[in-house]
Amino acid sequence: MKRGTPIICQALKCMLNRTNAAINTNMHPPVPYYCRRAGSSLPRAPNALGPVQPTAIVDSQEVKFTDGPFYEKHFDSREYLKAFAVDPSTRHGFLPFVLRHLHNTFSTGDLKGKKLIGLGSGPSIYIIISARKCFEEIVLSDFTTGNRREIEKWLKNDEGSFDWHPIIKFVCELEGKSRSPEEVEQKLRKIVQFLKCDVTLENPFQPEMMEPVDCITSSLCLEAACKDLETYRRAVGSIAALLKPGGTLMLTGILNQSYYFVGKQRFDCLVLTQSMVEETVKGQGFSIKLVDIQPATEEEKAGCDGDPFFYLVAQKTE
Ligand SMILES: C[S@@+](CC[C@H](N)C(=O)[O-])C[C@H]1O[C@@H](n2cnc3c(N)ncnc32)[C@H](O)[C@@H]1O
Repeated sequence: MKRGTPIICQALKCMLNRTNAAINTNMHPPVPYYCRRAGSSLPRAPNALGPVQPTAIVDSQEVKFTDGPFYEKHFDSREYLKAFAVDPSTRHGFLPFVLRHLHNTFSTGDLKGKKLIGLGSGPSIYIIISARKCFEEIVLSDFTTGNRREIEKWLKNDEGSFDWHPIIKFVCELEGKSRSPEEVEQKLRKIVQFLKCDVTLENPFQPEMMEPVDCITSSLCLEAACKDLETYRRAVGSIAALLKPGGTLMLTGILNQSYYFVGKQRFDCLVLTQSMVEETVKGQGFSIKLVDIQPATEEEKAGCDGDPFFYLVAQKTE
């Protein structure tokens, strides 16, 4: 018994090393442990977007979450845009759902101001297309350098920048074609700038101090950036602090989602229910003006386990 112990220890040590290596690279550990958060389902079968890998854990306590630095290393902006920013007139799903809502919100005439922030906007501009009519300045922001480059390329209209034309055209059609897509692009390029942000910080634009703004939109970011509900609450609190009293927050995302894929890379999400989102927003000093949800399409469910989408508008109480 005693003589066998070193061999067992050696084997255990070797397995632990392999498990830790797997955790560091967010790959499958040698034994099939699955990370299951409250309300999450087991990963689906491999799909067109790549094989499904469970999140690695050491034991039932320790969970690695794909945080900002992980995004900096592994988030492929182009791969994401290719899969996500598809012509909304050709399919149902998240993008047309959000674009229609943003159009309705920004067309009422009630929302006007100096500055709007798109928080954790990634390499995307869709959240600000309708907003351009209501604000003098727009700040897009994200954690990663790759996303910043992608946006800056588009702002400079550089060769090889992502083609947002079909999505801008879709919004122009919602607006009754009062402006051409080219005019809208030109206007956006004049009023948009990009800043680095970390939504998990008390001041997401640290070290820069931003004057409170009139409006903040954030889509598909907080659930990707916040590892637990407490971090999510703090992030919504930091958003409230960035807004003027009476300012508006538009939050969109996918409920009940524990992961999504960009190509073959898996990213974790905080599993949120509608009541968790609403309670958090109310708890951080907002009154909710509108909430809508829509079931995810089968096609979209192939790359993630979330369903349904949500769109929420809230106002910071005075
Ligand atoms: C699913 S993507 C959504 C991107 C974009 N909002 C959209 O709707 O297309 C998640 C985004 O969250 C960003 N992100 C992750 N952690 C972050 C953090 N701590 N602070 C700011 N952004 C973060 C990622 O870089 C990525 O762009």
